[in-house]
Amino acid sequence: MPSSLTLVYVMFMCFYFSRSDDYVLDDKLGRTFDGIGGLSGGGATSRLLVNYAEPYRSQILDYLFKPNFGASLHILKVEIGGDAQTTDGTEPTHMHYENDENYFRGYEWWLMLEAKKRNPNITLIGLPWAFPGWVGHGENWPYDFPDITANYVVSWITGAKRSHGLDIDYVGVWNERPFDSKYIKLLRYTLDKNGLDKVKIIASDNLWEPIAFYVLQDEELSAAVDVIGAHYPGTTTIKEALESDKTLWSSEDYSTFNDEVGGGCWARILNQNYVNGMMTSTISWNLVASYYENLPFGRDGLMTAEEPWSSNYVVESPIWITAHTTQFTQPGWSYLQTVGHLNKGGSYVALTDRKGQLTVVIETMTHDHSVCIRPPLEPFEVTPQNVTFHLKGSFASISQLQLWKSRFDFKTKNPVFFQKLDPVKISNGSFTLNLDVDEVYTLSTITTAQRGAYPDPPPSAAFPKLYKDDFNVRNPPFTEAPDFADQTGVFEYFMNLTDPGPHVFTLRQVVTQRPVTWVADADQTISVIGDYSWQNITVTCDVLIEKTKNGAVFIAARVDKGGGDVRTTKGLFFWVYADGTYKVTSDIQGTTILTEGKSGTSSDIWYTLSLSIKGDTATGMLNGSLLWKSAVVSGKVPKNGWAAIGTSSFEVAQFDNFSIEAE
Ligand SMILES: *[C@@H]1O[C@H](CO)[C@@H](O)[C@H](O)[C@H]1NC(C)=O
Ligand SMILES: *[C@@H]1O[C@H](CO)[C@@H](O)[C@H](O)[C@H]1NC(C)=O
Ligand SMILES: *[C@@H]1O[C@H](CO)[C@@H](O)[C@H](O)[C@H]1NC(C)=O
Ligand SMILES: *[C@@H]1O[C@H](CO)[C@@H](O)[C@H](O)[C@H]1NC(C)=O
Ligand SMILES: *[C@@H]1O[C@H](CO)[C@@H](O)[C@H](O)[C@H]1NC(C)=O
Ligand SMILES: *[C@@H]1O[C@H](CO)[C@@H](O)[C@H](O)[C@H]1NC(C)=O
Ligand SMILES: *[C@@H]1O[C@H](CO)[C@@H](O)[C@H](O)[C@H]1NC(C)=O
Repeated sequence: MPSSLTLVYVMFMCFYFSRSDDYVLDDKLGRTFDGIGGLSGGGATSRLLVNYAEPYRSQILDYLFKPNFGASLHILKVEIGGDAQTTDGTEPTHMHYENDENYFRGYEWWLMLEAKKRNPNITLIGLPWAFPGWVGHGENWPYDFPDITANYVVSWITGAKRSHGLDIDYVGVWNERPFDSKYIKLLRYTLDKNGLDKVKIIASDNLWEPIAFYVLQDEELSAAVDVIGAHYPGTTTIKEALESDKTLWSSEDYSTFNDEVGGGCWARILNQNYVNGMMTSTISWNLVASYYENLPFGRDGLMTAEEPWSSNYVVESPIWITAHTTQFTQPGWSYLQTVGHLNKGGSYVALTDRKGQLTVVIETMTHDHSVCIRPPLEPFEVTPQNVTFHLKGSFASISQLQLWKSRFDFKTKNPVFFQKLDPVKISNGSFTLNLDVDEVYTLSTITTAQRGAYPDPPPSAAFPKLYKDDFNVRNPPFTEAPDFADQTGVFEYFMNLTDPGPHVFTLRQVVTQRPVTWVADADQTISVIGDYSWQNITVTCDVLIEKTKNGAVFIAARVDKGGGDVRTTKGLFFWVYADGTYKVTSDIQGTTILTEGKSGTSSDIWYTLSLSIKGDTATGMLNGSLLWKSAVVSGKVPKNGWAAIGTSSFEVAQFDNFSIEAE
């Protein structure tokens, strides 16, 4: 090739490869931004958080909610507890029975108050997953008596205000379950009748269809619904949702193990839920992974706080990815119309407060480093690229932008999250960035952002091998005993003021009717505790079967399951019955019997049960005397699992002086 041509070729290639792609940001506005949120519940995902000692508990809350510190969330969505299993446990309702009302149960009230304390502007959302049995009049369906359901949900909202001064901003219908248009209209009517016309309705926390079709066809329904909320939309929406002119949200998303791929998933969907699907809010299931890791979807939270016994917690990458958007925007800002995909892969969004502030968030996550738990992700390419943004209109006068960067580093494992770099000078209305893959950038006129930090928490440690709870030392705001994770039924602190004996303060299972369930709760109640790896342990507990003549209670070891699979839980279960018998089974249903016999037990009398398992054999004691021994468990009982307590049906029963000795 002649040398002059070679030179031209080289010059051309240099120009070609070093050229930068151009993007224009101007004043044309897109949709209103509603904020980034976290979801506590659905279910019991914050269960262990409340049991953290200070100052660690407050530190975790700061990383989640404190403005200009960490995730600085704009939205907190919580489960309206329904006494039923909703993924990682049950959450108590404010109305166990029709004539019962209590707005201090569980931890969601406390969590909303802590969030508000840090960010008075935080948006609050409530959504039921399940309902107490009386709402369905015994049917596993909440719409047969829609007025009862609507009043029940509205009472949660009025109770939030009356008991805690909390204003709930949005309420949903029935999580990931069928909706009923008549019920949604009645819910709107009931809210309005109670002076709650400001409370907006999200529907239907499931797929885009059929709710978008119904909203398009039914004016009255359309008037009742403020937001169409879809779950795990894979960043896309449907034509009918756009035609409805409704606000569109990804009202539950993420649910991905919170390692760096989880962080990458979160970075990609936070941008692309708007770029591809016009969704103006994205809410993470879940807020914080504060449940036993061996329950379903372990660590699918923005950060991890699953060890109240050690106080260890981990600020995972999704916290800092959230900060890239939340610390530089507020709900009520507008997206610009000029948002989109970058030519070599990745995406950018731009937002403004319409008073001169501008925030641009860029992500270049590659396919394999941003896969979410669902839906499957189609292949796509991302390569390094140079991008030039041109600021037009009212943004043309901006002279510099703050620059914050995260870099996932899957090769050398040396990632950088939410690092402040030197501001970018805008020359002649534009700036250029050299983007590598798997990076996130924020450029903004907002100068208040900070990477909050506390000293490292104590190191991770296993659940203590010696554990005791006499339920006498109370943690007043909470109704549950520390570290117990209810998987069917609700186990609450109980105080018997007429009892002069040793059992004044106890733990009591209080759900007496099968709830309107979300998944298949067991027919028995059960609360698990401890270390999933435990093999050889002794579990001891005082138990009281109340009232019923055919009731029973159990203590258990090596319990292998919770969550939606709780019906098929295996373990070693030691039951005593009010009819004077006992039974040892390897399943929660009490059907696979290892040994059984007479115990002389009856209702309304306290007994001390003790269960020991070591290797392949087990023994059981009643009131300190051997009741059965050498039950062979080999091949029948799981090799390891949690300890547990429970009842044979939805019946009241009490527990006291619980203790564990693990080897
Ligand atoms: C980006 O621009 C730099 C010069 O600033 C150049 O060295 C580099 O090759 C360019 N990268 C790409 C992918 O074009
Ligand atoms: C709350 O919102 C108001 C009005 O938008 C704003 O002035 C204030 O700074 C916000 N407070 C916090 C803590 O974000
Ligand atoms: C500034 O930008 C305009 C168009 O964006 C261009 O015509 C002009 O040459 C640029 N001036 C300089 C000094 O780069
Ligand atoms: C409370 O204690 C009294 C006196 O011991 C007893 O008769 C009663 O059954 C107890 N009530 C409950 C609900 O445990
Ligand atoms: C059981 O707990 C009660 C208090 O609830 C206490 O008075 C009693 O001593 C405990 N019994 C044992 C054996 O620990
Ligand atoms: C077990 O002890 C309780 C008192 O704690 C007593 O009322 C009960 O009769 C005892 N039962 C047996 C079978 O010994
Ligand atoms: C449990 O006990 C058996 C029998 O003594 C023993 O083989 C096994 O190693 C023990 N497991 C643990 C975790 O200590």
